[in-house]
Amino acid sequence: MAEVVIVRDEEAAATLVTAAMLELIRRKPDAVVGLATGSTPLASYRLLATRISDEGLDVSRVRAFALDEYVGLPPQHPQSYRSVITREVIEPLRLTPDLVHVPNGDPANIEHSAADYETAIRAAGGIDLQILGIGRTGHIGFNEPGSSLASLTRVKTLAEPTRADNARFFASAADVPTHCITQGIGTILRARHLLLLAFGPAKAGAIADAVEGPVSATRPGSAIQLHPHATVIVDEDAASQLQHADYYRHAWNNKPEWQGI
Ligand code: F6R
Repeated sequence: MAEVVIVRDEEAAATLVTAAMLELIRRKPDAVVGLATGSTPLASYRLLATRISDEGLDVSRVRAFALDEYVGLPPQHPQSYRSVITREVIEPLRLTPDLVHVPNGDPANIEHSAADYETAIRAAGGIDLQILGIGRTGHIGFNEPGSSLASLTRVKTLAEPTRADNARFFASAADVPTHCITQGIGTILRARHLLLLAFGPAKAGAIADAVEGPVSATRPGSAIQLHPHATVIVDEDAASQLQHADYYRHAWNNKPEWQGI
């Protein structure tokens, strides 16, 4: 099962995420990282940017793959995930733009884009560390309930609760695209380490399903239970429906330091 780490707040989570990222990049300067968008990882990206700059760490060879992109938003739209990744990750971390990949959401080439994305991830040697958020619907990437646990990158229809949640980034709810291109659950499971983050009470049900529920396509987040190295970092609110929270705290508090996360 996943390792569950219950932290005080997003800043404490960011400290753990940043430590894992820095350790990876020091060990493997051309590491391949998987990037989630949305609000959840922002504190981690900010702290990582600060630490990279403070340490003068060379990240010019780091490669990255975003989880997903909206279909039909031009890349230059401020809410396209290409724009978000540029603004929140490439620029502050000073990554090499050509080494950071986002699925191509242009409807004209979408079939090829999905297959090309899988090919590019494989050609890079796979993803070393995948940052994940989780939606209220239980989605990881944009794999909404019902997504095959073996799925690869493809077009999906966004669930209406997801569109409603993401309306905060757009002028109106109607502006949120209806479709996306997303890494599949099978794609995500190939990453060597999954780091799933969730904060706040709205994520508590999805986290309980992901960590302790039955493994099921109906609960896409539960696929992490199939992964040999998945770490779930949550605040108290997001952990509030976990049945075994006391055990997770005990295990974390007694974890030998050399094990890392
Ligand atoms: C984003 C993604 C989604 C989000 C999820 C949570 O690239 O794949 O799974 O991680 O919708 O979004 P936030 O963090 O905004 O609550």
